[in-house]
Amino acid sequence: MKIKKAILPVAGFGTRFLPATKAQPKEMLPIVDKPVIQYLVEEAVDSGIEEIIFVTGRGKRAIEDHFDMSFELEHNLVEKHKKELLDAVKKIPKLAKFSYVRQPEPLGDGHAILQASHLVGNEPVLVIFGDCLYDSKVPASTQIIETFEKYGDPVIGLSSVDKKEVSKFGVIDGIKLDNSTWEIKKIVEKPTEKKAPSNLVAVGKYIITPTVFEILAKMKSGKSGEIRLADAFEIMLKKNKPIYGKVLSGEWLDTGNKLNFMKASIHLGLKNPEIKKDLKKYLKGLNL
Ligand code: UTP
Repeated sequence: MKIKKAILPVAGFGTRFLPATKAQPKEMLPIVDKPVIQYLVEEAVDSGIEEIIFVTGRGKRAIEDHFDMSFELEHNLVEKHKKELLDAVKKIPKLAKFSYVRQPEPLGDGHAILQASHLVGNEPVLVIFGDCLYDSKVPASTQIIETFEKYGDPVIGLSSVDKKEVSKFGVIDGIKLDNSTWEIKKIVEKPTEKKAPSNLVAVGKYIITPTVFEILAKMKSGKSGEIRLADAFEIMLKKNKPIYGKVLSGEWLDTGNKLNFMKASIHLGLKNPEIKKDLKKYLKGLNL
């Protein structure tokens, strides 16, 4: 079955960016000249997604406005003959069909995803967390969709990290099926370096199936007080239900924390035709 829908849960508080995220969503923070969320939507669309379901919460209205038509702005750009900018603005609402559901309280990423279940129905769906940017030749979402098409069970997008970093992530253990595909047997949340079964971590891109929704719907909030997608996967693995992992090729730009956000800005800035030359010159000239 072709995957045509994606859920983007964006109802989190973005506490790691406070005070910047006090009155604006972290997903709207720009990398060069586009908000992070637009990169994610474009990645999904480039991977064949036609419907995007945002799970939003209080303070996230800017996301709806961004993917809506802005009549006044378009009129203004027409008057000023700013054709290129006009095209860039006009294409945004046409990227996909957009729907919005609210998560009344931030009770976890799994709880957020569950709010969209009635719009998904009985089909597999792509899930992208609001801070998981990937720069790759083949869009990261395409890579996990292809893995799903081969195996027909949930897929978790993976990246390898430095062993010292594993304690920040969900780390997988499993059976290697080919160069980049794993049958996952265990996910260890935020292990110490010593206890980590590998250096492969979940990055925030998933294919989930109706079974995952069924499990999420029955879950009560765990130790963290939240309903988390990672806990739903753990329940599935305990029941011996298959889950696959796909090590994504490309560069993971995790925009969820300050340092990596800066790195992502530099990485994509160095690819931007308008600023790359001057940015390179500036970086070279830094007397570090
Ligand atoms: P994160 O924990 O990475 O994002 O959640 P956050 O909560 O926005 O950021 P911090 O940790 O406070 O700095 C992963 C994804 O799940 C969404 C977030 O918006 C993000 O896209 N999420 C998380 C929800 O939609 N609802 C929640 O209750 C929790």
